[in-house]
Formats: sequence, structure tokens, C-alpha cells
Amino acid sequence: MNHNDRVLDPAKMPAHIAIIMDGNGRWAQKQGHERTFGHQNGVEAVRSVIEGAGEMGVRYLTLYAFSTENWNRPKEEVEMLMGLLVKSIHNELDKLMKNQVRLMMTGRMEDLPESCRAALQEAIDRTAANKGLTVVLALSYSGRAEIVDMARNIARQAAAGTLAPEQITPETVQQHLYHGDIPDPDILIRTGGDFRISNFLLWECAYTEFFFVPTMWPDFRKTDLREIVLDFQCRERRYGKTGEQVREQ
Ligand code: IPE
Ligand code: IPE
Ligand code: MG
Repeated sequence: MNHNDRVLDPAKMPAHIAIIMDGNGRWAQKQGHERTFGHQNGVEAVRSVIEGAGEMGVRYLTLYAFSTENWNRPKEEVEMLMGLLVKSIHNELDKLMKNQVRLMMTGRMEDLPESCRAALQEAIDRTAANKGLTVVLALSYSGRAEIVDMARNIARQAAAGTLAPEQITPETVQQHLYHGDIPDPDILIRTGGDFRISNFLLWECAYTEFFFVPTMWPDFRKTDLREIVLDFQCRERRYGKTGEQVREQ
């Protein structure tokens, strides 16, 4: 069968795809441009994967757009990224509404400049009742910070005497994450050729299937996403069991 003829199995669709959108800077520099040119061109890739995920019927798409560590970048680049975020939200909002996309954010929203928070909050509120794909933007996000915030919330309840330490289970931890009701990612994609998690969804990725691709983010499109989902559908997720046990189920 021709590679392009492969068909998606509706019974094995991922509910949640998470993406580390990496490689913007190198993509631009390779062409003799400023790093920021890569960020601008990354927006088209975001548009394409949101469209693609929606078309495939994926429920959740989490996009790592800015880590807490990214605050350490040159001031001009950080300012450019924050400005691009506001501009992109304004440009895309009508289309998100039309496509029934619901926008959410994960991370420490209080770290973002006021203009970003306002644009983001407006988009979150306006799209809140949409019934299609949920896009979760990870902004000023850190997996360790999320775990710290979870621990603080649980510790508060324990200190107040409303939760006994023995009652704390993996479900308790799950419920105290930023979005405990969102299922764990089935797929994690990192573009840009590096093989690391860079403080993304540390708790949530316990049994996620990883895909590291050399494509730089500005070149990534929904066709690439579809290829990855097709490969995902061929993987055997064993969750600690033997292959025989899994196939008998
Ligand atoms: C990802 O691309 C975007 C952000 C981290 C904001 P980079 O800017 O990290 O691009 P590279 O990895 O330097 O090429
Ligand atoms: C990870 O990319 C964060 C985002 C894509 C937003 P980085 O470029 O910041 O990761 P490192 O520094 O190479 O680990
Ligand atoms: Mg990078």
C-alpha cells in the first residue's frame, strides 16, 4: 500500500496530542534572518496543526509556546514573542469561533504582561462554550512549577486538617494539577531535532508515546501530524504488561 494511502483507525484516535514547538530560531538563522523571523513563521504551523487536529477529531491539543526558562532569553526576543501572541490571538479569534475551537491556557498566567493576559482572557472567555477541539496554550509553563503548585495546594488541605496524608493517591495529585480533568497526552511531539522534554508535562507524560522529529517548527504542517498519528496507531501501548496480555484484551 502506498504510504499516503494509509487510513486512520477511528477506534485508535489519540484524545490528546501535546507539541513542543521547537526550532524557530535555527530555521530563521539558517536562512540568514533574525530568530524572530522564525517565530513569525511558526504561526502558520500552529494554524495548520489546529486545523489538522480538529479535522481528525482529536479532543485536546496542548502547544508549548513559552517555558518559564524562556524568560531568560534576550529582552527583545521575549517582547517580540509576547507581542506576537497578542497579535495572533486577535487575528485568529474569528476563525477559532467559526471552527468551534475552545482556547485554554496552562502555566503561570500571572507572569505574563497585562496586554497578553487581557487578550488571552478575552479569547478564553469567548471560546469557552465551543464544542470542538480544545487548544491549550502552555505559556510561562514549567512542569516542575506545576508539581510544586500541586504540592502546595495539597499541603494546605493537609495543614487545615481536611485531608489526611494517607488519603493522598495518584488521583488526588491529578486533581490538583492545573487542569486535572484533561486526559494525559497520548502523543508528545518535539520538532527541531532535540531529544528532551524541557520541563514540559512531567507528571502527565508517564505513559505518553514520544515522537521526536527533525523538522523545524515553521516547516511543520498538518500532513506531518497525520503521519505521526498513523505511526502512533501502530504502536503497542503495554502499560507494564506483556505484549501477549495486551493483545488478549
Ligand atoms: C521554539 O523555537 C519557540 C520558543 C521556545 C519560544 P526556539 O526559539 O527555541 O528555536 P531554536 O530551538 O532556538 O531553533
Ligand atoms: C522548549 O524549547 C520550550 C518551547 C518550545 C516553548 P526550548 O528551546 O526552550 O528548549 P531547550 O532550551 O532547547 O531545552
Ligand atoms: Mg529551542
